[in-house]
Amino acid sequence: MNDFIFHNPAKVYFGKNQIGHLPEEILKIGKRVLMVYGGGSIKKNGLYDTVKKLLDENGIETFELSGVEPNPRHTTANKGAQICKKEKIDLVLAIGGGSTIDCAKGVAAAALTDDGDVWPLVSNGVWVTKALPVIAILTNAATGSETDGWAVISNMETNEKIGLGGSALIPVVAFENPEYSYTLPTYQTACGAFDIFNHVIDNYYLAGDATFDMILEFQEAVMRTVVKWAPVAMKEPENYEARANLMWASSMALNTVLDAGTVHGCACHLLEHELSAYYDITHGHGLAIVTPRWLKYILDEKTAPAICRLGVKVFGLAETTDAMAGAEKAIEALSDFCFNTLGLKPNLSDLGIGTEHFRDMAEHACAGGKISGLKELGADDLEEIYKMCL
Ligand code: NZQ
Ligand code: ZN
Repeated sequence: MNDFIFHNPAKVYFGKNQIGHLPEEILKIGKRVLMVYGGGSIKKNGLYDTVKKLLDENGIETFELSGVEPNPRHTTANKGAQICKKEKIDLVLAIGGGSTIDCAKGVAAAALTDDGDVWPLVSNGVWVTKALPVIAILTNAATGSETDGWAVISNMETNEKIGLGGSALIPVVAFENPEYSYTLPTYQTACGAFDIFNHVIDNYYLAGDATFDMILEFQEAVMRTVVKWAPVAMKEPENYEARANLMWASSMALNTVLDAGTVHGCACHLLEHELSAYYDITHGHGLAIVTPRWLKYILDEKTAPAICRLGVKVFGLAETTDAMAGAEKAIEALSDFCFNTLGLKPNLSDLGIGTEHFRDMAEHACAGGKISGLKELGADDLEEIYKMCL
């Protein structure tokens, strides 16, 4: 078990009757707010009106950045930063899924730079310690952005999708009302659910020597939660228990509770971010395609016991002394979950993706070095995994 520091200052209002606390939380910070949202789902489901009314009634002045794209662009974040500078905005209020929250974080960071351009921060890997405060109202259980210190920003001109990190990017307050995710399309529910699952399996569960039993059990509980509740939420979009379990799992997966003392990996995320950067696909779907193939690729005598444990603890497979056979069954169970239960198409070719950029993507994903984790992977390995996904 490694030494660790745990510090997550995000305050979460979770549940049905919490949005009334929004004005008081805003007024602790200021009165001039930039509302950031996506392509209109919050207008259709009434959340926009609820929030706007609350802010108007409490004398909070609002400005807007709308139209944030899934896989949010640096250019959109820059537009928001210019509004912040011009209008002397006190805080950025994100209402939406991970893309909207990430964009709001990009806005918040860029607003405090001289030129208001987020891309130099992103491309230079700057750790952000200074940003406008962000409050997040979550509408999609998926990325964990609502309580983590990361914003994934895309530059479609250069085919780059990169995580911007920093302590100042953790939302100061998050509102998580599972009801706000009732209107989520089935496909997005499935993609979001697999993103949560993958944050655990990719980042820490299989990242290396995990000797912290309690944390392993926590990680497995979060993955089991996704396996149990995602199909329910897909069939019954207004099932509160299902949406609530997924929403809290989303936050737990990346709020650093689960990575205490562990080794970090994230091979699948690096592989997937390249796919989104080149082809603008939905993040969770890309992960679902990549993950079982990654497991197949790294399976050997050394990795088999950890993969076998996944099958037993998360998918309820029978205990076995034959770790290799158990690991193979675990990968089958995971594939079945991704492609049958969640109904996500299994191949990159289903998304219109061919081999044309595999080499570039593989080299970029490992930045000329190796990705750490259960097994170290270089560009040749990653290219092979992409080929297995075709
Ligand atoms: O744009 P609107 O109209 O809001 O529609 C969105 C969008 O089309 C829709 N949606 C969201 N909530 C809804 C809803 N539609 C109806 N009802 C609702 N309640 O769903 C679509 C997808 O939304 P998006 O925000 O893109 O999805 P998600 O939450 O999965 O976010 C994905 C982005 O987050 C990044 C991904 O790479 C991707 O760019 N990630 C961020 C991370 C982080 N900050 O820590 C980590 C993740 O690993 C991930 O990389
Ligand atoms: Zn993710």
